[in-house]
Amino acid sequence: MSPTSTTHEAAEPIVWLNGELTPLSEARVPVLDRGFIFGDGIYEVVPVYVLEAGEAREAVRVPFRIAQHLARLARSLDKVGIDNPFDEAGWRALIAGVIEANEEAGALARDAHANVYVQVTRGVAKRGHAFPAGITPTVFVMVNPLVMPGAAQRAAGVACVTAEDRRWLNCDIKATSLLGNVLMAQNAVEHGVFETIQLRDGWLTEASSSNVWVVKDGALYAPPRSNKILEGIRYGLIEELAQDCGLRFEAREIDEAALRDADEVLVSSATKEILPVVTLDGAAVGNGKPGPVYAALYEAYQRAKAREARAVHGKQAAQATLQEVEK
Ligand code: PDD
Repeated sequence: MSPTSTTHEAAEPIVWLNGELTPLSEARVPVLDRGFIFGDGIYEVVPVYVLEAGEAREAVRVPFRIAQHLARLARSLDKVGIDNPFDEAGWRALIAGVIEANEEAGALARDAHANVYVQVTRGVAKRGHAFPAGITPTVFVMVNPLVMPGAAQRAAGVACVTAEDRRWLNCDIKATSLLGNVLMAQNAVEHGVFETIQLRDGWLTEASSSNVWVVKDGALYAPPRSNKILEGIRYGLIEELAQDCGLRFEAREIDEAALRDADEVLVSSATKEILPVVTLDGAAVGNGKPGPVYAALYEAYQRAKAREARAVHGKQAAQATLQEVEK
């Protein structure tokens, strides 16, 4: 190592567990936590970007589509009968606080996008399948730098394989019991590809951790919202983006033949944003290159982020003005 070189080891992440901020390596849950015993919990993954906004191009932290993420968290908790420990404002403040703690500790650069992981389990109790009475949910928030696909990956597109969807029929619940999805992600790794796209009885559902979109003759299609897929926060977003781009969108059942005959196939998630699929089980999708609908939606996605950054910046400026007036 030359004498002038420096190493920048990121500090250990700070996590929030049941009311306390602690270094990740010191966070502990009892083995009887039902998240550990049964996978009895709900989670969310929220991208929190650092984007420039305003005339001075100031950097603002933008918890992207957070209202929708927190609404889905509330819905999932409600569907499995776990009390939501916070209201929307409480969650927003908690997430902002954990990000700030990580920035202060040097675990998250102030200019780095963040991947915020939130988990609520039913809590700790003697093992028994049915819900125990009177237990307190375990609440965990973790922040990591958000690793997004790079320009090279977006330009090249990704390869996927297909497999039968063998998961349970409550895929609309964002549950931590993800073994079915875990097996499909591992299947992708073993095939040396990016994702496994699942079909249930010959009908497209979703990938191991992404929603799937199909383009045919300039129109965009996705399987309808149902118990067979997780309604990604990008599901509603991409519907809006399609409108933005003047694309026709239709939610409809997509059979295997239509998937294989698509001009373009796309996958979306909080961490991937939107990516083009260029091969499916080794066969080219369309002409085997990322297509024009992907390009248009990707650009529209970036515009949506910029709009949200302007809104956050505007709110912060208004608050600052109010504070000045009150002085
Ligand atoms: N997964 N479908 C499944 C099964 C998923 O796990 C995800 C996201 C999505 C897309 O949802 P969204 O647009 O809200 O990210 C669809 C997250 C990122 C994860 O498990 O890490």
